[in-house]
Amino acid sequence: MFSSKLPAVASRAFTSSSAVKAKVAVLGAAGGIGQPLSLLCKLSPYVTELSCYDVVGTPGVAADISHVPTASKTQGSLPDPEAGAWPTGSEGGLKAALTGASVVVIPAGVPRKPGMTRDDLFNTNASIVQTLVEGCAEHCPDAVLAIISNPVNSTVPIAAEVLKAKGVFDPKKVCGVTTLDVCRANTFMGEHMGVDPSSLSVPVIGGHAGITILPLLSQTGASMTDEEREALTVRIQFGGDEVVQAKAGAGSATLSMAYAGYVFTENVLKALAGEKDIVMPAYVKSSITSAEYFASPCRFGVNGVEEVLGYGELNEYEQGWFDKMLPELEGQIQKGKDFAQK
Ligand code: NAD
Ligand code: LMR
Repeated sequence: MFSSKLPAVASRAFTSSSAVKAKVAVLGAAGGIGQPLSLLCKLSPYVTELSCYDVVGTPGVAADISHVPTASKTQGSLPDPEAGAWPTGSEGGLKAALTGASVVVIPAGVPRKPGMTRDDLFNTNASIVQTLVEGCAEHCPDAVLAIISNPVNSTVPIAAEVLKAKGVFDPKKVCGVTTLDVCRANTFMGEHMGVDPSSLSVPVIGGHAGITILPLLSQTGASMTDEEREALTVRIQFGGDEVVQAKAGAGSATLSMAYAGYVFTENVLKALAGEKDIVMPAYVKSSITSAEYFASPCRFGVNGVEEVLGYGELNEYEQGWFDKMLPELEGQIQKGKDFAQK
């Protein structure tokens, strides 16, 4: 059994680092997630080039972030190469944004409002992800894609189908980002157990929507009543809804997601650079269950996802959720595949 404890991120380095040379492209960089995520990437010593791409606002976002005194270069571009870019006079467009990228993080798309499910975002976000991944297939076919745009359960299969159609699909390099589910599980269990949440490593498996999110609380060894276990499980599964409701129509989680996306991205960069023992949860092509895509701890290496790891024993309570989850997850995967194959 492998721990899903999130590996450490680099300490804030305001000086140059000789660690790794890597370009990270953020697609949707002017958005609620995209802006703080881009800022955090600018702070990372593992990022030498930061490319901010969006349909609006990115020359401004990039100009702003570029004043943060770290060694990386920042570039901002819009879809139209003629529309202006940052630095002024640099080449814009998706091609310039993506060329040479090692990791492409995709938080582009609309967020939920109260009363919506993530699947309600499908009609808008499916084609956004499809178009952007077509660009990745053309301009950076070897990059690791970190897909944040919801519904992740379907957008990851869409991305895979797009890449397959272009003949460049590598299952090691297409990931749905489920790190926020583990962040929430660690936080809520830390509160329950009265311990520092950063010391915890709660495995969360399945997908990234409602009951497809399955925290394996039995593996923490924490004592809890049946009522506490049910309340904690459901809170983790519906943690996103908690934020959507509190934001009351102004969107969904952005700051915690930016943090989670940054943790994911920096650790992928460390693994690509040859650091060992980088194990993180990710929603990837998988054969450990009947679902074609499944989130579980994965070992990352120089090629991306080197190994999809198992998730250990489920108790009877967790097995009950698992049995309910699989058909729902498989339906959302098929919906993504059908869309992309149309
Ligand atoms: P937002 O509306 O604040 O930002 C989205 C950005 O995407 C906007 O700046 C928009 O201009 C841009 N965009 C739209 N179409 C684009 C395109 N074709 N190319 C490039 N950029 C484009 O939304 P947000 O709060 O940042 O959320 C973004 C997405 O992330 C949503 O789908 C949300 O549901 C999802 N999300 C996922 C997780 C997760 O855990 N995986 C967590 C939080 C949010
Ligand atoms: C989350 O888990 O916070 C995201 O998937 C956004 C949402 O819609 O809940």
